[in-house]
Amino acid sequence: MNTLFAPVRFGDLELANRIVMAPMTRSRAGSDHVPTAVMVDYYAQRASAGLIVAEGTSPSADGIGYCRTPGIYNDEQIQAWRQVTEAVHARGGRIVLQLMHCGRVAARANKPAGSRSVAPSSVAANAKLFTDTEGMADTDLPHALTLDEIAEVIGDYRQAALNARAAGFDGVELHGTSGYLPMQFIATNSNQREDRYGGPLENRIRFTLEVLEAMAGAIGAGRVGLRLCPGNPYNDVDDLNPQATLEALLAGIDGLGLAYLHIMRSPVPGLDAFAIARQGFSGALIVNDGFDGDSAARQLEAGAADAVSFARHYIANPDLVERLREGQALARFDRHTLYSPGPAGYSDYPSRALESVLE
Ligand SMILES: Cc1cc2nc3c(=O)[nH]c(=O)nc-3n(C[C@H](O)[C@H](O)[C@H](O)COP(=O)(O)O)c2cc1C
Repeated sequence: MNTLFAPVRFGDLELANRIVMAPMTRSRAGSDHVPTAVMVDYYAQRASAGLIVAEGTSPSADGIGYCRTPGIYNDEQIQAWRQVTEAVHARGGRIVLQLMHCGRVAARANKPAGSRSVAPSSVAANAKLFTDTEGMADTDLPHALTLDEIAEVIGDYRQAALNARAAGFDGVELHGTSGYLPMQFIATNSNQREDRYGGPLENRIRFTLEVLEAMAGAIGAGRVGLRLCPGNPYNDVDDLNPQATLEALLAGIDGLGLAYLHIMRSPVPGLDAFAIARQGFSGALIVNDGFDGDSAARQLEAGAADAVSFARHYIANPDLVERLREGQALARFDRHTLYSPGPAGYSDYPSRALESVLE
């Protein structure tokens, strides 16, 4: 039996199938970081996924790093997101919001007025970011958070989880990789602290665990997920022992009762992050990176995961579930419109189901 199409329950989330839409930053929010109408269409078109993980979204103005990425820290954003969640729910879908605090992966020109870029230590990321107004720009030299400010940032995540629920999301996913704030605490090059958030591994994972606990305390652990990619160096982060980091994180989260762990294939040769996660985490596991329908089905049949997420295939295949079910060919996406404003290359990819109605 192909278990991709079997329903499943992850914590408080009821999924109609095991096909998850992975989070993708597509830069279709306004320059004020408020979701737009094309985002309503885009997510509604993909509602047959068992679960949509909506794109990386900032829990605070300080957490914005990129242009036209959404936030969930003011009323306008909450109202706009509500249009998205209502459209997805009206089509029977489930949708959680990925919370992405960029920390030091931020450029001044992309940030809301009055906000600042923050990180565990005042060390700039060796990365350049696209800005609408200045082209490619250097990342900011971040402000090193004080202990009181760390507590405030954790409070921002907590409030963002509550805001996401107020906007109708079924839950939230913490973005714990790709060099954003949680990973900036874990990595030894971006975290030079000497207090209880720096130094030994148990201190460097503390921020991630405290954020998860705060969000779980606010909306229930059964509505909170975590995304990891062990050893991912993206955005200039050094993890000298990704396996030890993964094992420490798994031990830290295993008792929390999270809805799921969403794990990407590790780029580190020989590090089988899926197997380590399956062994060290007793909750639901979503695996990601490079899957097609057949390889995804094999993961489920082998018992290696409970669901598989797809990112790139979802760009040009809004009805991916139906196409996989029917064994149809998958469409290819245009990389030139990945981050451009407006509907082109975003909410205008046809659904096969729609085409057959029109024919
Ligand atoms: C355009 C684009 C934007 C992405 N944005 C995010 C993001 O906001 N958050 C995140 O965790 N991963 C992001 N990713 C990574 C994907 O979720 C996924 O892990 C990766 O594309 C591998 O999965 P795939 O082989 O199914 O595409 C992005 C990927 C792409 C192609």
